[in-house]
Amino acid sequence: MKILGIETSCDETAAAVVRDGVEILSNVVVSQIDIFAEYGGVIPEVAARSHLEVMMPVVEKALADADCTWDDIDAIAVTHAPGLLGSLLIGTLTARTLAILHNKPLYAVHHLKSHVYANWLDVGRADTARIPTFPLLALVISGGHTQILYMPGHNQFEIIGTTHDDAVGECFDKVAKILGLPYPGGPSIAKAGKNGNPNKYRLPHPKVEGLDFSFSGLKTAVLRAVQKEVGVPISYPSHKLAELLIPEQVADFAASFQRTAVEILCEKLELALKQHPDVRSIIVAGGVSANQELRAALPEAYFPAPSLSGDNGAMVAAAAYYEIMSGVKPIDPYKLNIYPRISVEQ
Ligand code: KG4
Ligand code: ZN
Repeated sequence: MKILGIETSCDETAAAVVRDGVEILSNVVVSQIDIFAEYGGVIPEVAARSHLEVMMPVVEKALADADCTWDDIDAIAVTHAPGLLGSLLIGTLTARTLAILHNKPLYAVHHLKSHVYANWLDVGRADTARIPTFPLLALVISGGHTQILYMPGHNQFEIIGTTHDDAVGECFDKVAKILGLPYPGGPSIAKAGKNGNPNKYRLPHPKVEGLDFSFSGLKTAVLRAVQKEVGVPISYPSHKLAELLIPEQVADFAASFQRTAVEILCEKLELALKQHPDVRSIIVAGGVSANQELRAALPEAYFPAPSLSGDNGAMVAAAAYYEIMSGVKPIDPYKLNIYPRISVEQ
C-alpha cells in the first residue's frame, strides 16, 4: 500500500510516498528555517504563506521522486493536529482537495503520532529487522511538546508524563536566543557547545512530581547565570546579553545547558521505566531526538534516522498506515477539521 503523507503543522512544507508504513519511496521537505533564522522564531502568518507557495510543487516532487502517478497512490494522509492554525489549514485543504479530485481515501493524523512512527521507517537503521516491540515508552520531544507516552500496542497512546510549561525544544530555542545563537536553537546549541565545558555552570534540575516536566525554570536559570557571569543586574534586558559574552562563555553555557536538559530527560525516562517494568522498548521522537548527546546517553533506545527526527511527510504516511492496520476508517474530505491544540489521547 502506497500512502502520500503531507505535513505542514509548523515551518516545514513536506510530502512523501511510503510503502507499507516502512519503505520510503520519496521524502521532500522544504524548510522555512532560513526565513525564520532572521526573526529568531516562527511567525505564523509568514509560515502559512510560505506553505501556500511551495505546497503543490512539494507534492508533485514527492510523486515524481517516487516514480508514481496518482493511479499508484492508495491513500492520502495529512497532519490535522496540533500545530499552527494557518499552517495546518494549508496542508489539510491541499489534502482534502487532492482526495476529492483523485478519489482517494483520506486519513487525518495527529502530529505526535507521526513523530512516534518515524521510528518504524527503515532509512538509516543499521539492522532493518530491529523494530520496536510493545509495550513501549515513547519520549516525544519537539518544539511544542515534551511527553512520555505508554503504548501497549500500535495506535494506542496513554500520556504518562507531560510538561507543565515550556517544551524542551522551545527551551533550546529560548536559551539559544539568550546566547545570541540562531534559530532553531537545538542544532545551534549543539554546535556551539561542542568545545564547551558541560560542567562549567551548574544549572538546577526542576523539582516536578512524577513523570512530568518543567523547562521554563531551566531557561530562567540560564538567564540568571549569564547575567551573573557578565556582571549585570537581573533587570538587564535579555536580548542585550549576548553581546557581552565571549565565545568561550557561549560554548560553556551551551554545553552546560545541553547536558542539564539531557540529564532531565533521561532521569524522567528512567523513572517511567521503573513504574512500567513490562516495557520492552524505548523510542525517542520529535525534533529534539536529533540531539547527539541524548542519543549517546540512551544507547538502548530507538531513534529515528536524524533526517527523520524533524517534521516530514514520511512519518505522517507511516502513522496513517498503522492507523489503517488498526481499523481506523478514512475521513470525509468535505468534513476534515483542524485542531491546533488537541492531545494525542483524543
Ligand atoms: O519536531 P520539530 O521539528 O517541530 C515541532 O513539532 O515542534 O521540533 C523542532 C524542535 C526545535 O525546538 C529545535 O530547536 C529542536 O527541535 N531541535 C533540536 C535539535 N534539532 C532540532 N534540539 C536539540 N538538539 C538538536 N540537535
Ligand atoms: Zn514536529
